[in-house]
Amino acid sequence: MKIVSKERRDDGTRIIKLFGLRVFAYQRKHKNNPSICGRNNVVDVPKNGLVKINIVGHDNKVVVDKQLNIKSCVHINIYGDNNVINVGAIYGKLQLCVGANVSLPVQNCRVVIGNDSSCADWLNILLLESDSYFDMGQDCMFSSGINIRCSDAHSVLSADGAVLNRAVGVKIGNHVWVGQDVLISKNTEIPDGCIVGARAVVTKKFIKPNCVLAGIPARVTKENIRWSRNPPDKMKPTK
Ligand SMILES: CC(C)(COP(=O)(O)OP(=O)(O)OC[C@H]1O[C@@H](n2cnc3c(N)ncnc32)[C@H](O)[C@@H]1OP(=O)(O)O)[C@@H](O)C(=O)NCCC(=O)NCCS
Repeated sequence: MKIVSKERRDDGTRIIKLFGLRVFAYQRKHKNNPSICGRNNVVDVPKNGLVKINIVGHDNKVVVDKQLNIKSCVHINIYGDNNVINVGAIYGKLQLCVGANVSLPVQNCRVVIGNDSSCADWLNILLLESDSYFDMGQDCMFSSGINIRCSDAHSVLSADGAVLNRAVGVKIGNHVWVGQDVLISKNTEIPDGCIVGARAVVTKKFIKPNCVLAGIPARVTKENIRWSRNPPDKMKPTK
């Protein structure tokens, strides 16, 4: 016989039942969440403990969709000023770092993540240069072990000292499937409907939608494809 059970409801409330009787209802909350150190920061996120925010800086804005799936976890760290983050109703775990610890602050970064995307495990997104962006559409599917590095973090210089690897941004379209252990590097673009094959390293902007991109560096290996979340054996045969 089940003596104690815990239920989690859609609003994040947990209910403890003893011998089938409801004895306690509470909301999972993080201590010091959001943790904000600075002026004029605006945080508009669901208040059910699914989102953890850490801000060190001024004039940042973070909005996370209130429809965030109950099984999701969104961790956002911002070090710097005037960064704007918009995260849609995703399903899964997202770790977003804008700036890295107090010694590498960034300014004016823009992050937009659309609705209905899923991550099988922690999806790591890093922005470590001021004025850079990460822009992602809707209905994308991410496997595990994926890193999206919107900047290199350290400089590559020419012989005369010019910086060769400035970061601008990363764009991922709608309905993109990213396979296991992929690295998406700075200044790249993955168009609508594409698949990125397992262990690929994406290093440039692709233009054509509905392609398979695979390999190191990633290249187009198939064109004019579609993909579905259903496994192959569950698909109806086509003529
Ligand atoms: C991307 C993927 C779906 C493509 O499958 P596919 O269309 O059946 O591809 P094919 O097996 O027909 O391969 C086509 C070509 O691409 C190459 N290729 C396929 N996947 C590759 C990869 N991940 N890296 C490098 N090359 C790859 C093949 O070697 C083949 O090359 P060739 O034409 O020179 O022989 C699949 O290879 C893949 O990466 N699957 C893993 C998906 C995953 O991570 N799932 C986790 C759950 S979300």
